[in-house]
Amino acid sequence: MTIMGNAILVTGGAGFIGSNFVLQWIKNSGTAVVNLDLLTYAGNPGNLAEIAGDSRHQLVRGDICDAELVAALLREHRPRVIVHFAAESHVDRSIVDPGAFIRTNVQGTFTLLEQAKLYWSELDDAGRREFRFLHVSTDEVYGTLEAEDPAFSETTAYAPNSPYAASKAASDHLARAYFHTYGLPVLTTNCSNNYGPFQFLEKLIPLVILNALEGRNLPVYGDGGNVRDWLFVEDHCSAIRAVIDRGRAGETYNIGGNSERKNLDVVTSICDIVDELRPDAALGPRRKLITFVTDRPGHDRRYAIDASKIGRELGWRPEEKFDSGLYKTVAWYLDHGSWVQSVRTGAYREWIRKNYEERIQS
Ligand code: NAD
Ligand code: DAU
Repeated sequence: MTIMGNAILVTGGAGFIGSNFVLQWIKNSGTAVVNLDLLTYAGNPGNLAEIAGDSRHQLVRGDICDAELVAALLREHRPRVIVHFAAESHVDRSIVDPGAFIRTNVQGTFTLLEQAKLYWSELDDAGRREFRFLHVSTDEVYGTLEAEDPAFSETTAYAPNSPYAASKAASDHLARAYFHTYGLPVLTTNCSNNYGPFQFLEKLIPLVILNALEGRNLPVYGDGGNVRDWLFVEDHCSAIRAVIDRGRAGETYNIGGNSERKNLDVVTSICDIVDELRPDAALGPRRKLITFVTDRPGHDRRYAIDASKIGRELGWRPEEKFDSGLYKTVAWYLDHGSWVQSVRTGAYREWIRKNYEERIQS
């Protein structure tokens, strides 16, 4: 089925952020989305159940490394925007199996850029001017901060420390080069840690919510003093829409939530919310489930984002406060038991066994 008129192409739109973005885009813009997703362990068409049967959304199962498929989708749907989320995204998995990260994040981004360039170069003048390629990236490309360091800005030098971060940094450099060399209207966003509905269950916040609910240990890496800046996923999606609408081609925009928290504080807050929403007298306070385990190798100590550029130039600011966003998020996972069960597949269980069985409790 060809989607007619003003469509956008989204990659990775069945993953955590991508699916939130697709839902928000359809609700707010009303225009169509072609969603290219390989449906790896992290992709879940169930995230898009709300728009099942909506003619404005078409999910295509396929690989961003498949140049012919990408070219065919561009020829058929003639999108005015490509929003590129598809990636291998989990730092711990990149430590165990970096090859998959190089393939999707580097080779896949290169394939998309190359096909986008060919498509864009054949558009008429107005089409070329309006076209946008938005490359979604991460704050992890900037490396790690000490407690007193200023937050990452768009001019902070890249210093990636994990195979994941290095693969994202490589993809950012390719995106930059396609603007500077060929003039392809690329924009890059570097965002901090997202949280909210539909996050794959192996990431810290959903993992801790469900373990707390079920009375399992809550694994905290190292001393729990690592700091992340947290952003509610819907705020990330609205920032991306602002960059598509008003961002300047060739620019990068940092996106963050102004909500730096130590991991241990995030975990204890989740414990308290689960205690409130699902009290369990037999279990007692969930905080006692906290278990310090072997640290992540090369674990970045602190991330912080200076998001003043996107605020100043595009008028974007996060709307959700961390405390209220975390509360909503905990409630969402507690209320969506069937979604949770659908995600606990073999791939998820195998990962949990591999990642936690050998971590020593301290
Ligand atoms: P995710 O792992 O939840 O989703 C990734 C999606 O990409 C999945 O649906 C998966 O099936 C798809 N995919 C993987 N390989 C593919 C391939 N070869 N071809 C097509 N599709 C493929 O990731 P996420 O957390 O939603 O992150 C989305 C993007 O945002 C990533 O680029 C990530 O680097 C970036 N990002 C994430 C965060 C965060 O906190 N989660 C923060 C900043 C930036
Ligand atoms: O900063 C943005 C990045 O945030 C994104 O680019 C990544 O795609 C996304 O996965 C996320 O990376 P993190 O490594 O920060 O997310 P994760 O949820 O895996 O871990 C958050 C913090 O919690 C991190 O410091 C490691 C720690 N942690 C994680 C797990 C899974 C634990 O202490 N225990 C755990 O069991």
